[in-house]
Amino acid sequence: MREILVTSALPYANGYIHLGHLVEYIQTDIWVRAMKAQGHQVTYVCADDAHGTAIMLKAEANGVTPEAQIASVKASHEADFSKFLINFDNYHTTHSEENKQFSEMIYRRLNNAGHISTKDVEQLFDPEKQLFLADRFVKGTCPECDSPDQYGDNCEVCGTTYDATDLKDPHSTLSDATPVLKTSKHYFFDLPEFEQFLKDWTRSDNRLQVSVANKLQEWFDAGLASWDISRDAPYFGFQIPDTPSDEPDKYFYVWLDAPVGYMASFKNLCDKREGTEQALDFDRYWMQENEHKTEVYHFIGKDIVYFHALFWPAMLAGSEFRTPTGVFAHGFLMVNGEKMSKSRGTFIKAETYAEHLHPEYLRYYFASKLSDKVEDINLDLEDFMQKVNSDLVGKVVNIASRSAGFLVKKYDGILSDVCVESELLEDITKTGDEIAAAYENREFSRAMRLIMQCADKANEYIDAKKPWSLAKQEGTEQEVQDVCSVAINIFRQLMVYLAPVLPELTANAKAFLNIDDLSFASRNEWLLGHKINKFKPLMQRIEEKDVTAMVEDSKASLTQTETPVPSEGHKPDAKNQTSSTAEANTGAEQTDYIGIEDFAKVEMKVAHVLACNHVEGADKLLQFTLDVGEDQPRNVFSGIRKFYEPEQLQGKKVICVTNLAPRKMKFGVSEGMVLSTGEPKTGLTVVTLPDACVVGDTLA
Ligand code: 2FM
Ligand code: ZN
Repeated sequence: MREILVTSALPYANGYIHLGHLVEYIQTDIWVRAMKAQGHQVTYVCADDAHGTAIMLKAEANGVTPEAQIASVKASHEADFSKFLINFDNYHTTHSEENKQFSEMIYRRLNNAGHISTKDVEQLFDPEKQLFLADRFVKGTCPECDSPDQYGDNCEVCGTTYDATDLKDPHSTLSDATPVLKTSKHYFFDLPEFEQFLKDWTRSDNRLQVSVANKLQEWFDAGLASWDISRDAPYFGFQIPDTPSDEPDKYFYVWLDAPVGYMASFKNLCDKREGTEQALDFDRYWMQENEHKTEVYHFIGKDIVYFHALFWPAMLAGSEFRTPTGVFAHGFLMVNGEKMSKSRGTFIKAETYAEHLHPEYLRYYFASKLSDKVEDINLDLEDFMQKVNSDLVGKVVNIASRSAGFLVKKYDGILSDVCVESELLEDITKTGDEIAAAYENREFSRAMRLIMQCADKANEYIDAKKPWSLAKQEGTEQEVQDVCSVAINIFRQLMVYLAPVLPELTANAKAFLNIDDLSFASRNEWLLGHKINKFKPLMQRIEEKDVTAMVEDSKASLTQTETPVPSEGHKPDAKNQTSSTAEANTGAEQTDYIGIEDFAKVEMKVAHVLACNHVEGADKLLQFTLDVGEDQPRNVFSGIRKFYEPEQLQGKKVICVTNLAPRKMKFGVSEGMVLSTGEPKTGLTVVTLPDACVVGDTLA
């Protein structure tokens, strides 16, 4: 029996759980259940990620203390997880005594070993709010193209990345005050010292998916930088211990104590279980010398690989704890082929989903999509309905519903004493080995395919034998009982295989089958001369109206936008390995919802590109002369030079936003905006219109 500790990433304690989050919790929960069903001792822990500026500001915006804020969010997270049958062995918080102790212990060990240093850092400071401003809390005019209202890390118009201190006319998004430059001492973890260790660690023992290891190689090639692990007061977190008394309060940056939360939650569970039959030994899972006795796996989103595959193992190794056995990254959730969107109603809260649809539908659909790859998965709502209805209701449940009736009515629910199709059952038992391996390797879509192939075989068998016709004939009583008994036995095997994905349905099936075991091994036990109970429908079909209602409700519930407070960053950047804009580990779109009246304010017109030229001295811009049906052509600058040669756009019909306030730029005044799709960093495509469009016509 293997002893395995499993974690999912800790959700921030300032927002609700949505379907993007659930990809990970469902993936982990299925894996944990499958490994438990195969007889291993698996412990699954998680916690709320409760620290950081975002949570502090959110509490302030809600008029509550951070403690009250995180307590209520934790309760709502736990309620959501339980609806989706996520079976944590423990759910804790990073704002806990255990986490404080381990964070301090790790820090002190790193410090004693010489891995911590200090450096003065100059940062923008909000004199009104009296706090240092992370990039996402500063806006100003782009130093490159003079576009106003750009964030502190990069310009969305021309794509230039810069330091917040380079912005012209900066202002704090928290108070609107003009920030001032202020220097303070920061604490740094010396990541570069661990470079060789990390290079070996990331490439050995299959700890990481190949694509993740390759991504890390890019980071190694770019050079590792020391990691800024401190934040100045005011901050909601743990104070850094042993700092000189004349220094203002220094706190651990939230990303320092967040992964320590995995250990802390586990320790909390060990303490709860002490002296019971399920007692767990903390040291056995975390001490370096026990590294090969137990296994530790982290399931995470692809956006937080840097933290889990570089900082975390380096922190652990540097403080003499064991490192994870594996880190498994997954992709983001798309809905109907696009990023989740509030306005389209596809940014769906867990709670809203559960009000309309059974959580097991989603568990099955995600399982049918998930693999061991770091690929985004798509929830296509049409396909979701079709797949669940056809696979689960039409194929699997149907096997029981079309055979149980005969057995209960005619044979008092007693199955035959012998199995007349042992080859078929053995074949399905054998497929179980492949299914078990697919679960273990996180190839859930393969597992689901294999299970459905088994269900197809059962249905083909029933179709061929036609018990409903046999039942009408004389002298075929035994055959009817035998055929239905074979079907019920296969159904039992399918319940074993689907139990990790559909815990509730299979628990009900267990009651119907009158059995008490759905472990993987139990698929070998055939039910002979066994009495089953009356069949009750185990799953209803998904109705289109419920999906539509869920989408409509999502539009409605998310229009009342809460005070938007950006969360702690995820992606490393040159300065402190955190980015400023990423939200949660889901790839979710963070558009604020606007009303039709706001949309109506934007005037968009069909424009004819009379001329398109390079701009001397601006390597990001193209200059357009546009006919928008007015007396005079307009002059417009656009940050697309990287993606186009001017002649490609000359003569085209494009869309121009004509009522954007004129912007004075270094190279002249820009009198509108040419619409493009895509991202300035990865590629922009100018939206062109058919020639038949009339210049000056308004788009609506
Ligand atoms: O990305 C996030 O949502 C973080 N709250 C995940 C933390 S995982 C772990 F390191 F604690
Ligand atoms: Zn710019």
